[in-house]
Parts: sequence; C-alpha cells; structure tokens
Amino acid sequence: RLRREEKAWQINALARDFYQNVLLQYSEAAMARDYIASRGITADIIKDFGLGYAPAAWDTLIKFMRSKGISVSDLLKVGLAVSGDHRAYDRFRSRLMFPITDARGRVVGFGGRVLGEGLPKYLNTAETDFFSKGKILYGLNRARQAIRDMGYVIITEGYMDTIAAHQFGMTNTVASLGTSMSREHGQLLMNYTREVIIAYDADAAGVAAAERGLDILQELGFRVRVLSLPEGKDPDEFLRARGLDQWRQQVENATPLVEFKIQRALAKYQNGPLFRDAVLEEVLPALATMSGELEKNEAIRMVAARLFTSYHVVAEQLQRFTNNNR
Ligand code: CTP
Ligand code: MN
Ligand code: MN
Ligand code: MN
Ligand code: MN
Repeated sequence: RLRREEKAWQINALARDFYQNVLLQYSEAAMARDYIASRGITADIIKDFGLGYAPAAWDTLIKFMRSKGISVSDLLKVGLAVSGDHRAYDRFRSRLMFPITDARGRVVGFGGRVLGEGLPKYLNTAETDFFSKGKILYGLNRARQAIRDMGYVIITEGYMDTIAAHQFGMTNTVASLGTSMSREHGQLLMNYTREVIIAYDADAAGVAAAERGLDILQELGFRVRVLSLPEGKDPDEFLRARGLDQWRQQVENATPLVEFKIQRALAKYQNGPLFRDAVLEEVLPALATMSGELEKNEAIRMVAARLFTSYHVVAEQLQRFTNNNR
C-alpha cells in the first residue's frame, strides 16, 4: 500500500501533465498561451517549470482522473477537487497553473493564476498537514545546485519572479510564495548555503515582510542582505524592463539586514521625540542575531554613528535586549 504522501505526489504529477497538455494543445487555452507570451515566458520555461492551464468547465480534471482510475474522493483529499452542495467540482478552473514541488521535485501542490485581472489573483492548494507554503520554497529543486555553486540564494516573493530569474540565468533563485520567511524555510536552505539575498517586491507588503521574517534567518546563522528595487517594482518586472546586467548590479549592492533596518527606522522616526529609542528598538533584534564578533562590532559602530551616540551606549542596549530575550 502506498503511503498517503506518495499517492498525493503521483496524483499531483498526473494533474501537472494534464494541465500542461491542456495549455499546449487545447484550443480553449489560446488565451492562456497569449497571456504567457505577453509575460515573456518561453516554451523552455513552460516545460522546465511544468506550467499548465486548468480549463473553465466544472469537472474536466475529475473526468480525466476517472479515466485513469483515480476517484473523486482521492482528488478531494489532495485538494484538486472541492465538494459542492450536490457533487464535487474541480478546484482550479480557468487558471494558469504553477506546480509547486519540494526540494526533490515531487509535486506537493499548485498555485493557479487568473488570466489578467480577477480575485483572488492566485488560488493555491489548501493548507494541510501535507501541504504548507511556510515549509516550501518554490523553485528549490531547480535552484539547489546553482545555490551551492554560486554560494548564495536569492529569495523572491512570487512564482513569476523566480521564473523570470531562472529565464535570465539567475538559477540560484527561489520564492517564498508571499509568506514571510520561517524557521523551516531556513532549515531547507541550510543544506546549500548560509548567504541569503532577499528580493521582495518594492511595495508596502514586501518591505513589511523584509522587516519581519529575517531575524529568524540570522538567528540560524545566515548572512542576510536585502535588495531594494525602485518603488513599485518586483524582480520579474525589473528583469524584463532593465535586463540581467542591472539586476546583477542590484544583487551586488544589496544592503546588510542591520543597515536596511536602520535606514527604514530612521526614515520612519526622523526628528520624532525619543527617535533614538524607537530606532534602536527596531534594530536591536537584527543586531542580536548577528553571528561573527567582527561584523557585529562593526554594525554596532555603524548604528551608533547613525544615532549620533557612542559605541558604548548601543552595546549596552544590546546587552540589555539580549538578557531580556534569553
Ligand atoms: N500570493 C498568493 N495569493 C494571492 C496573492 C499572492 O498566494 N492572492 C502569493 C503568490 O505566490 C504570489 C506572491 O504571493 O506569487 C506574490 O504576490 P504578488 O506580488 O501580488 O504577485 P506576483 O508574483 O507579482 O504575480 P504577478 O506578476 O502575476 O502579478
Ligand atoms: Mn507582492
Ligand atoms: Mn509580479
Ligand atoms: Mn509581485
Ligand atoms: Mn503584481
């Protein structure tokens, strides 16, 4: 008897192949093919990332799977079907399909994008004990060798960002799929590198995510740097508008986490009362998780200079913070 996961991987892989066949062959998918072309995605990328299209009808996948001997109840279990009032129907309809694989390339779930405008923009496989976005890095199976070879990983928010990066040759790129970085994400990466570059969208949500989830990576021993794109852009848009050389430059100029945090905090609290305390409060967690005494001392000195205070004052606050959070 197959383990539950193995059966789910098999069904998902079958669904990926089905959706891809629809995308490449069905006349119904002409709009999807146009959409993909309009986003600059090539035939090679469609193949490499297993992109597909889910038809509009309520039960296309259910019918296909039945012809392969897979029951509706199995589809319900892996989240490819949803139970309605009278009968089950396909969860993904009229959507561009992105298979989500684990580090070993097994298909654990899907993201489905509407063509053009519409809500939700992305529909994902429901969170279960078997599939959780907080434990997956999209593209890792295709990125892991390059991460080892290049010595660092670039983490983006989205499917399209990671796909664009791979298309332009930056194959050491993965996506956290809109979630903030977790301990599990860090543990996945530890097998390959300790150098992380965060390339989130240059919008409020992206900056907020960069201010949050990254201390946890430092705590695990990663050196974290943050890439700042022009206002409103994401890596996909930047790469396709400006090209690989300018992207590489952005990567080289990425800002160390503590520096990024102090820039943000200074902009937020400039000239306010108690601005020194407010800024310190935001920066201390990032200082506390830094490994490497030399780098840490240098960072303390940098923070002190920005706050017009002494090394001693910042070091003392850091000590207090560390003691309180033990
Ligand atoms: N996301 C999601 N559900 C949504 C919106 C976003 O799961 N309703 C996740 C997706 O993984 C998405 C990522 O968050 O790729 C980033 O969201 P966003 O920046 O809005 O999308 P993009 O990846 O930029 O997609 P596109 O370029 O197609 O707009
Ligand atoms: Mn975004
Ligand atoms: Mn985008
Ligand atoms: Mn985006
Ligand atoms: Mn967008």
